[in-house]
Amino acid sequence: MAQTMSNNDLTNVILAAGKGTRLKSSLAKVLHRAGGRTLVEHIVRACGPLKGRETVVVVGHQAEQVAAIVEPLEAVTVLQHPQNGTGHAMLVAKRLLGRAKLAVVLPGDAPLVRTETLKALITAHRNGNAAATILSAVLADPSGYGRVVRKSETAVSAIVEESQLTDEQRDINEINSAIYCFTLEKLWPALAHVKPNNKHRELYLTDAIAALSAKGETVLAQVAADSREVLGCNTRADLADVDRVFREWKRNALMDAGVTIQLPETVLIDPDVAVGEDTIIEPGVHLLGKTKIGARCTIRTGSVLTDAVLGDEVTVEAHCVVAESRLDDGVIIGPFARLRPNNHLKAGARIGNFVELKKSTIGEGAKAMHLSYLGDAKIGTKSNIGAGTITCNYDGFHKYPTSIGNKVFIGSDTALVAPVRVGDGAYIAAGSTITENVPSDGLGIARGRQVNKPGWAAKKRRELATVEKPKRTSKRKSRRTSKRRK
Ligand code: UD1
Ligand code: MG
Repeated sequence: MAQTMSNNDLTNVILAAGKGTRLKSSLAKVLHRAGGRTLVEHIVRACGPLKGRETVVVVGHQAEQVAAIVEPLEAVTVLQHPQNGTGHAMLVAKRLLGRAKLAVVLPGDAPLVRTETLKALITAHRNGNAAATILSAVLADPSGYGRVVRKSETAVSAIVEESQLTDEQRDINEINSAIYCFTLEKLWPALAHVKPNNKHRELYLTDAIAALSAKGETVLAQVAADSREVLGCNTRADLADVDRVFREWKRNALMDAGVTIQLPETVLIDPDVAVGEDTIIEPGVHLLGKTKIGARCTIRTGSVLTDAVLGDEVTVEAHCVVAESRLDDGVIIGPFARLRPNNHLKAGARIGNFVELKKSTIGEGAKAMHLSYLGDAKIGTKSNIGAGTITCNYDGFHKYPTSIGNKVFIGSDTALVAPVRVGDGAYIAAGSTITENVPSDGLGIARGRQVNKPGWAAKKRRELATVEKPKRTSKRKSRRTSKRRK
């Protein structure tokens, strides 16, 4: 019954105003990143599919930056200033909750919670006609968390913060995730009774639980099936733990979808990355941003791809760095290739070692295999760019384009001083500095003419041999003898 109900009586409230003192950071806690996103963004996203009336984010520290992240995700913000505790944060949110009957309340620093878990929490709350339902978890090491004190198997009497635990309570390993579902008409009067009775002189939302229980209201705790989902980020070590879990989930999802990942714990993949079937990802690879990889590709060890789009059967050899570039089917790059933003490598193109590309199009089947810089260049189908070719695209003020046609052969160590065009089928002699356009099917040659001088070297050697070699200095000799004497 309850499960099929819509959630238009529900509002989500995310408490994200705190500073995060324990992180020792100039950046507000919820702006720190784990699993490729800021903490607060993960939580707003988890709430979205609940289809509540609204998601309200309580902001305080670096409020503008936090708002800039959550508002595009259709959350609204309310300012808590000063930050007088989680209970106070909830009171600040009150005026935005309007006619909502229920609120799912979440801290801004527990980003692993999944929508399914929140749905189950709401269902348990509705089915139990509860005033409050706590998402709890059983942890082997509960230290740092508030503990759930039960008065019976089903009912909760209080949440006790770590600093206020009695000796017996310290052994309780059921912890408060700080994720709750509240019936708001019950919460407000209970919260009115809460006093700042703690060393930080803050109003704790957790104290509303004891107040509700004392009034005889129903307070439930639902244990999370996967306790990792409730991990909070109070310290840098917590952030690393949470990041590890996100990364593992992402890799597992890709492996389930048919991707091979070798030594998966060494591979870092951002949440929006997509990878096709039978692609192989070697150890130490980073796939970042909105990278999309097709089927049957190989991404070899140490490569870092950010916002790259790869077709099928692409090979990225070891230690390539690729940003914001498109690699069509069958492209091979690297090892040690660097693709700066805005390149398009068409089907079957090959880019070899120590080649840097920027804002360039490499035609179908074209090759640049060794030691080149190609910037603002357009290279046609099946052209070959010799080793050491450089596009001189910058004169200190402006950038200029280089255009190379189809089936062009650029000899090694060519400098192409842009703007310049080389027509289809043209040849450029090795070592040329090309400053003028080269016509189709022509030869461009721009280098000093070679002069051979027969016998010159032999004569030089004879001359040098007749000059007497200088004698060893007496100073050096005496140092040697003194050493030997020791
Ligand atoms: C809180 C809970 C604790 C629980 C733990 C789970 C309280 C008093 N304690 O402790 O029982 O086990 O989370 O992770 O709630 N915030 C505000 N305004 C404030 C204070 C805090 O918005 O005035 C926000 C913070 O930005 C943070 C969240 O509330 O996102 C929780 O605050 P935090 O200081 O992390 O509480 P914990 O000590 O972790
Ligand atoms: Mg916390």
